[in-house]
Amino acid sequence: MLGIETTCDETAAAVVARMADGSGQILSNIVRSQIAEHAAYGGVVPEIAARAHVDVLDSLIDAAMREAGVDYADLDAVAAAAGPGLIGGVIVGLTTAKAIALVHDTPLIAVNHLEAHALTPRLTDHLAFPYCLFLASGGHTQIVAVVGVGDYVRLGTTVDDAMGEAFDKVAKMLGLPYPGGPQVERAAKDGDAARFAFPRPMLGRADANFSLSGLKTAVRNEASRIESVTPKDISDLCAGFQAAVLESTADRLSVGLKLFREQFGGPTALVAAGGVAANQAIRAALDDVAKAAGTKLVMPPPALCTDNGAMIAWAGAERLVLGMIDGMDSAPRARWLLDANAQVPKKFSNTRAGF
Ligand code: KG4
Ligand code: ZN
Repeated sequence: MLGIETTCDETAAAVVARMADGSGQILSNIVRSQIAEHAAYGGVVPEIAARAHVDVLDSLIDAAMREAGVDYADLDAVAAAAGPGLIGGVIVGLTTAKAIALVHDTPLIAVNHLEAHALTPRLTDHLAFPYCLFLASGGHTQIVAVVGVGDYVRLGTTVDDAMGEAFDKVAKMLGLPYPGGPQVERAAKDGDAARFAFPRPMLGRADANFSLSGLKTAVRNEASRIESVTPKDISDLCAGFQAAVLESTADRLSVGLKLFREQFGGPTALVAAGGVAANQAIRAALDDVAKAAGTKLVMPPPALCTDNGAMIAWAGAERLVLGMIDGMDSAPRARWLLDANAQVPKKFSNTRAGF
């Protein structure tokens, strides 16, 4: 299976094989990040992203096929992320996959990018259903019950900013470079988390939803009260912000796991994916939450937690085995819910990449 990913600021292509026993093997997995192109703007610029995908995708696919040592005739199908994401980029990847499918007379699989994140632990850890996924990246913050291929139930989500987006915005307001998550984590290390009394959003609520924009505003308000912000102030603000995110996340996830147990029984694991899961403090907190809920924490390696082509190819392979093939009329989608019947809070119209 050839997999193509272009929904945000990574152009990626990979070739993955699915074995008869259901395990997976990555034959090649090439990712080209656009961080350098977007850094000057402090965030991803959709039009720049789409153009950068066009520039490199063909040669990236070529390289992935060569590295895997397979010919187009060897492919059982071609998979592309058809959304959710920045629409210009999604069009580039999906159209390229359609062209390959047409020319080489092979089936097309239009993969939901979130589904690809959700199924990754089956590629990396051969994990059995059902499991509880915590997905936290620049565009998504969700707790999802992964019940089977194509069978996902969203247990919680952000009502405003995505978690990575909040890290990026806090970094930006403190003058730290993009992407902000790793910068905030680094600055927080020597900071005094108790200096500022930041709110713990949603703590104790019966649902498993997240909210991050109020916390972000609280950081801005405290920072604006300081006349001339020193590196020590930045460290303390970052430490306070991260501590609040941690406490809120642990609380939201323990509620999510409780809802999971009520509806599906015990999960085989709590799985963390998305760029924010690279944060060491958050990883430690997730480990505690999983233990307290009587399950284990599974984290795919960082390169497969963040956006990549292997996850798209793998989701395509899982779908192909079940005969889930898509037509040439498959549409690119800026928004695409993982669980089609989910209720979407109104505030979602403000969020970045669609849920
Ligand atoms: O999954 P990802 O690479 O791309 C998508 O957004 O799809 O996630 C990137 C996001 C960015 O917002 C980045 O700031 C955040 O993940 N991030 C982190 C850390 N590393 C990356 N957030 C907090 N702590 C980190 N160490
Ligand atoms: Zn992603």
